[in-house]
Amino acid sequence: MADARTLFDTVTTGALTLPNRIVMAPLTRSRADNPDHAPTAMHAEYYAQRASAGLIIAEATQISPQGQGYAFTPGIHSEAQVAGWRAVTDAVHAAGGRIVLQLWHVGRISHPSLQPGGGLPVAPSAVRPAMKAFTPDGFVEIPTPRALDIGEIPGIVEDYRRAAANALAAGFDGVEVHAANGYLIDQFLRDGTNTRTDAYGGSVDNRARFLFEVLDAVVAEAGAGRTGIRLSPLSPSNDAHESDPVGTFSPVIERLNDYGLAYLHMIEGQTRAPHPGFGGDLAALRRLYRGTYMANNSYDRALAIRAVESGHADLIAFGRPFIANPDLVERLRRDAPLAEPDQATFYGGGARGYTDYPALAG
Ligand SMILES: Cc1cc2nc3c(=O)[nH]c(=O)nc-3n(C[C@H](O)[C@H](O)[C@H](O)COP(=O)(O)O)c2cc1C
Repeated sequence: MADARTLFDTVTTGALTLPNRIVMAPLTRSRADNPDHAPTAMHAEYYAQRASAGLIIAEATQISPQGQGYAFTPGIHSEAQVAGWRAVTDAVHAAGGRIVLQLWHVGRISHPSLQPGGGLPVAPSAVRPAMKAFTPDGFVEIPTPRALDIGEIPGIVEDYRRAAANALAAGFDGVEVHAANGYLIDQFLRDGTNTRTDAYGGSVDNRARFLFEVLDAVVAEAGAGRTGIRLSPLSPSNDAHESDPVGTFSPVIERLNDYGLAYLHMIEGQTRAPHPGFGGDLAALRRLYRGTYMANNSYDRALAIRAVESGHADLIAFGRPFIANPDLVERLRRDAPLAEPDQATFYGGGARGYTDYPALAG
């Protein structure tokens, strides 16, 4: 008889072999506070401290200057950034870990002060998000974005391809396409943010066209076995709405089955809200996917064990718990208490609230 599945099993998925099923979720920390927007020695220390995770998904990282939407986030489009990330991946590998990079274009969730030449942020359609942007001068209202001309789209797909190539050159074990949380790919998917009437708008197939063009380009570079994708079908994050989440996301998830990806990473319910439970729309979407399924959102130890042992999920990604618990895997193993993260130091700043959370003694 096969052994029971546990949170602490070794799993192989695609080209990745993970020593446990506990994943560090991507977490923007806005500490690339230098003119190159490059990771620093502090990033290397932070990620190496968390190398006991089965897999680290490094923070969302802009694929191009246009893809940036928050102050001090790192990129993967210049030599200095590749060099900065190389030091990070070397440190994680030296500490025995595995790390992939989350590829990010924010679309309309940006501000001219963060855009090349002070231009307007771009989006599928000129629909303004009721949101503020985190800029070097603090939080400011986001303006109405500029709708992308259809002729600009191949260039953005190419930016994703180049970013994937750069990530591999920087020593990452793979890449995750960020198609969640109301950023550019998700803006194309949702009918609340995509009102285009060309080949990229209207039907679900058309709204998903950009996602699959990006995925094809990234897979061509990294290979399916080193590529994951993150979706948040039931989350209206960043004011991105969808009138029929199950109708829109079902065909997308079904089509993802054909790719043989390293994983599908699902934010279950509303990002950062309590976990919605395993029924309803989540169950309807979950059962469509036949590959490796990574679950995220407000998991604790008990829920993670239940999700893995019941077969709901193959991998569990933890976000906030990894901020304050660099040794989260060991704490979950021992059922030790978890430290609480300090929200005031989530974004920006230095080592405080970043690399100074201790591991358990002994
Ligand atoms: C400080 C912070 C930064 C985040 N940055 C990202 C990010 O860069 N990319 C992303 O996909 N999600 C990001 N998220 C969402 C987390 O990955 C995760 O989905 C969310 O925190 C829920 O998981 P948790 O309950 O385990 O924290 C962020 C969340 C927090 C708290």
